[in-house]
Amino acid sequence: MLNASNGLQRLTRVACTCGRFRARPDHQIRKIPVCLSRAPSFAELSKLDRALRAAPLCTRKFSSTRCGQTARAAMIDFPLASSAEGIQFPELPEITTSSADATSWKGDLLLIGVFEDDLHTPDGAATEFLDPGLLEWSKATEGLLAEIVAENEFKGKLGSKATVRWSSGAAKYIGVVGLGERSKATLVTNWGPSCFQAAGGQIAAEAKVLKAVSAAFIIGGNDTSLPDGSKDGMAAKVAAGVLLGAYEATRFKKDAKLSKLRKVEMLGGSGSTGLSEAVSLAKGTLLCRYVLEMPANIATPTLLANTAESIAAGSEGSISAKILEEDECRKMGMGLYLGVSECSAEPPKFIHLTYKPKGGSAKRKVALVGKGLTFDSGGYNLKVNGGIEMMKFDKGGACAVLGAAYGISQIQPTDVEVHFIIAACENMIDGRGMRPGDILTAMNGLTVEITNTDAEGRLTLGDALLYAQQQDITEVVDIATLTGACMVALGQKVAGVFTPSETVATSLKSASQAAGEKVWRMPMEESYWEDMKSPIADMRNAGTIRYGGAITAALFLKQYIDPKKVQWAHVDIAGPAWDTKEGGAVGFGARTLALWAMGKHA
Ligand code: BES
Ligand code: MN
Ligand code: ZN
Repeated sequence: MLNASNGLQRLTRVACTCGRFRARPDHQIRKIPVCLSRAPSFAELSKLDRALRAAPLCTRKFSSTRCGQTARAAMIDFPLASSAEGIQFPELPEITTSSADATSWKGDLLLIGVFEDDLHTPDGAATEFLDPGLLEWSKATEGLLAEIVAENEFKGKLGSKATVRWSSGAAKYIGVVGLGERSKATLVTNWGPSCFQAAGGQIAAEAKVLKAVSAAFIIGGNDTSLPDGSKDGMAAKVAAGVLLGAYEATRFKKDAKLSKLRKVEMLGGSGSTGLSEAVSLAKGTLLCRYVLEMPANIATPTLLANTAESIAAGSEGSISAKILEEDECRKMGMGLYLGVSECSAEPPKFIHLTYKPKGGSAKRKVALVGKGLTFDSGGYNLKVNGGIEMMKFDKGGACAVLGAAYGISQIQPTDVEVHFIIAACENMIDGRGMRPGDILTAMNGLTVEITNTDAEGRLTLGDALLYAQQQDITEVVDIATLTGACMVALGQKVAGVFTPSETVATSLKSASQAAGEKVWRMPMEESYWEDMKSPIADMRNAGTIRYGGAITAALFLKQYIDPKKVQWAHVDIAGPAWDTKEGGAVGFGARTLALWAMGKHA
């Protein structure tokens, strides 16, 4: 802890060493010119200290002022603006519903949602509008709508769109967005996002291209009923699509060209059920993406801890933050976690956020545990076969848990207590720390022979799951970029779910459907555990057989679960956490976890 009497000394050292008290040439912090004629106040110091630790690249973010004042924080990035204020998002488009007349809507971009079923193109002839509502649109636009459809061979297919300049209209541009088949237009689908979320993504993409500041969306036909009868929830899905679609990983680019979109109106008098909740969850997903895309020289365990504290600070007292330092973890006996962390120069941070509903009315108590390896070099079993440069993504589970925490802190459900737990650390190589062949002891006394230092995630999760079960909870879900084997099994779009519990398998599945995220249950084949037995310890951390590696990893975690106390599921997101094609963090899991914790299943 800082105090004002040692403040000057501390300030100078903090200023030049990122709060770690060890100068490292790779840290890009220069000494901040701070006038020393007055001892800075406690509040000033702790603000500076936290800010510096949170943002190792902070030289650009601070400017010194003259005599009598400490360095002034001119924080520019979200989410770490200041721990005292919570997460600051950049300008995001605001999404509202309105019953204003669409043909006279004034703004930049008016998009009309069209179902495949409402169009018919006879062989060699012009497209007919089967829904009278679309015919009216065609008249209102003096045939422009028919022209867009004809020229682009637009058939209303999901993912298709076309836009033109509307010189005689109130809106600057007008276009169509395909919603696919009407019968499939449900708010929740069996597999993946709803067509309305997809439409939201199209709105964001088109707005960016056209540099639109305002956009509006309306379903083009008269028949706007949905198969599941829940038209009121449509805006929520579109909103999620817009917010997730508008996001770009531009933080590290000097000349980023950001979307100008600031306002999206849902026309046609659709209701706004779930809209603000969808926005909170989407923002949680953005937070997940933002932290996940940061490389390991910036997103350290300390940064994850500071992000967690920022979420707590912005939660109106609903979330409390506890960060356990290395010595506390050692006292608690977290030998597996610290064994991994020991080879790193970055101090480990064991993060524990607790959400409690105001008034203490929680009926259910659950925990979410995320794998938080800010970098996974593999350790002595170094990742020599490629992909090591991607291993900043090994905190994908942790970021999903932080995203869920943000969403829940904004929604503030009244009936559930949620513990968010991350054993954050880095897997590196050093003169001290874990070697192949070492034996480590978990918090519950179980010993593990380290047969592969690259099977480190399960070690950190073992102690984190044990800690979670001390929190008087009945259900726990962990989420982790745990195995390459899960990617081999399910590819890059689908997460694996491993659980002995039918109940949690079902609730997680429906939460994932409500979130529009794809998960697939995998078997927990007990006989594979044979290969994980050690002649010298209670178990080994990696088997000798490559096959079924995602299953043996899940079986390892199961050793740390007391089935009499809790129901548990493990989610392997090694595949879907990162989109190699789009080059970015997906935010996978944040919404599924938040919805699952809140008991909001499809
Ligand atoms: N973080 C990796 C899992 C991973 C690897 C995800 C490659 C995506 C791509 C994890 O810590 C790991 O290295 N797992 C090993 C386990 C093995 C040594 C038993 C793996 O999957 O190869
Ligand atoms: Mn590894
Ligand atoms: Zn890993």
